Amino acid sequence: MTQPYLDPSVSAEAHDAGESAALSQDEALEREVDAMLAAGALSGTAAQFAQPRGADMLARTAAVEGWHNQRAAHQLWQYSRSLEGAPYPIASIRDEAGQGARGINFASQDYLSLASHPAVAEAAARALRDAGPHSAGSAVLLGNTKLSLALEEAIAGLVQAEHVALFPTGWGAAFGAITALVQATDHIVIDQFAHASLRQGASSATPNVVINRHLDVAHVRQLLAGIRARDTEHGILVVTEGLFSMDSDSPDIAALQASCHEFGATLLVDVAHDLGALGANGGGAIEAQGMLGKIDLVMGAFSKTFSSNGGFVATSSRSVKRHIQLYAGPHMFSNALSPVQSAVILECVNIVRSDEGKSLRSDLLRNAESLRGLLAGEGLTCMGTPSAIVPVLIGSEKVSRLVGKLLFNQSVFVNQVEFPGVPIGASRLRLQLMANHNMQQLKRAAPVIGTAVTRARQALAAGEARNK
Ligand SMILES: Cc1ncc(COP(=O)(O)O)c(C=O)c1O
Repeated sequence: MTQPYLDPSVSAEAHDAGESAALSQDEALEREVDAMLAAGALSGTAAQFAQPRGADMLARTAAVEGWHNQRAAHQLWQYSRSLEGAPYPIASIRDEAGQGARGINFASQDYLSLASHPAVAEAAARALRDAGPHSAGSAVLLGNTKLSLALEEAIAGLVQAEHVALFPTGWGAAFGAITALVQATDHIVIDQFAHASLRQGASSATPNVVINRHLDVAHVRQLLAGIRARDTEHGILVVTEGLFSMDSDSPDIAALQASCHEFGATLLVDVAHDLGALGANGGGAIEAQGMLGKIDLVMGAFSKTFSSNGGFVATSSRSVKRHIQLYAGPHMFSNALSPVQSAVILECVNIVRSDEGKSLRSDLLRNAESLRGLLAGEGLTCMGTPSAIVPVLIGSEKVSRLVGKLLFNQSVFVNQVEFPGVPIGASRLRLQLMANHNMQQLKRAAPVIGTAVTRARQALAAGEARNK
């Protein structure tokens, strides 16, 4: 069932309303929080329902649905919203229950705003006209096209590796690369905050997975030394990200690569969030750290900066590419990127490498620095360093769920992230910027976010005290 849009101008007025109106809004919030607490709508985490028991595999999913229903009845379900149009800085969104709103969008991933670039739209239209709507095969079974081969070359140039294997999703690239290369007797050392595609790839490949403290190279060295002291026969893969997707921080890539070489290990860096969007020429964190062309395996996704779906693995070795082509399930057994996707990504790579790309990256970075400054001015803690990702640490899931609801109703869209995206108790708002966000939007959003966090914290503290 769809419902009419909330009007953002009403929300703006409500935000600026006088003290008496604010008081009644707070009273209304108090009552709402009491009802939420009484219904248990703010409680629980997805961890509780991840491994249901019982012989009936389908019926045992009822518990998670019950948890969803409790939350959704109070407009506290943050997932499965839909866009009505394109993922631009101003967007129209509906929540799962059909409530619509039009407002400032920090919940989409289009870091250089290339989804709205006329050359990208033109490339997509040309590919559709010339090559049709789908690839009609996996990459090894006639799914390659003239465009996908050109894309392999373009990515090889961007990351300075000779050989590139493409995948239909970034997920498939991460999972496929790890499961193809790592045997059950090998070892994996993986950062504690690595993306689910990398973690699930690791646990599918081998039982010998150890987790290193986030960004802690000394810990990685210690783990590598321990593994090598026991086992000189098998391979070790070290897995990290160029820019961590929930934390906006980067490891010391040179130090990690040196440690890997010291202990005969291989380094894989997932550049999903930084390639194209960071680095003087769009080479991401690896370029920013002077390591282009020097990393064992570079893996990425096109879904953040290259305005399409898809992923890749890049290597300096022809045989590594051959092995991945044969043994990475999502490359061998899943249909390849469509010609339209390849054409879009190829055009985006051209823009990323041009002067226009430089200027879009500088717009994006200016937005990141401005928004971080504005949010800090509201007393909020932004994690990590400036990039397209601005994570605002909240901690309590209850507070962040309530903030998410308040912000949606005030037409400011952010992703409220909790387990399994981040550890329990480390809930946060993840804002994602685009080059085309403007200062007016950032200035308008920051106080709305600051006020929502303050109101949610206060209302919950008071509600919990009342309901003790
Ligand atoms: C670090 C990282 N790697 C891989 C992926 C998977 O990419 P995709 O969503 O394009 O399949 C993501 C996407 O969320 C990601 O954040």
